[in-house]
Amino acid sequence: MKSNEELIRGLNEDLAAEWGTIMRYTFQSAKAVGLRGAELREILEKEIPDELGHARYLSDVISDMGGEPTTEPRKWDHTTELKPMLEQDLKMELQDVQNYTKHSKMAEELGLTELKVKLEEMAADESRHARELNRILKGL
Ligand SMILES: [Fe+2]
Ligand SMILES: [Fe+2]
Repeated sequence: MKSNEELIRGLNEDLAAEWGTIMRYTFQSAKAVGLRGAELREILEKEIPDELGHARYLSDVISDMGGEPTTEPRKWDHTTELKPMLEQDLKMELQDVQNYTKHSKMAEELGLTELKVKLEEMAADESRHARELNRILKGL
């Protein structure tokens, strides 16, 4: 049986990942130029509100569970070269899918049904983001 503290720690890592992604996508949209850049901006700008929703939900839940929500973003590489940049985005989205799936199972073990379902939905959101990034990467 996993403990509440362990789950709070995991959710705080997820929250740091979300802050990092919000910053990364905002930065990458700002730096995107040209025709491909315009496409990229459109996709990334659609994803930012999803990630902000995730960050807000995690902050609420961590606080409700008695934890202190982090405001430190996960680190990322500031490359603006299209391919390595998108490869990094894809890798991080896939990592987030794994983490949300893992933490959803922990929430289930602790009997936290709403959290379990919500984390599963967030894993599905990240999975969709990964699919969209993969589609652009295939065309490069
Ligand atoms: Fe997210
Ligand atoms: Fe995402």
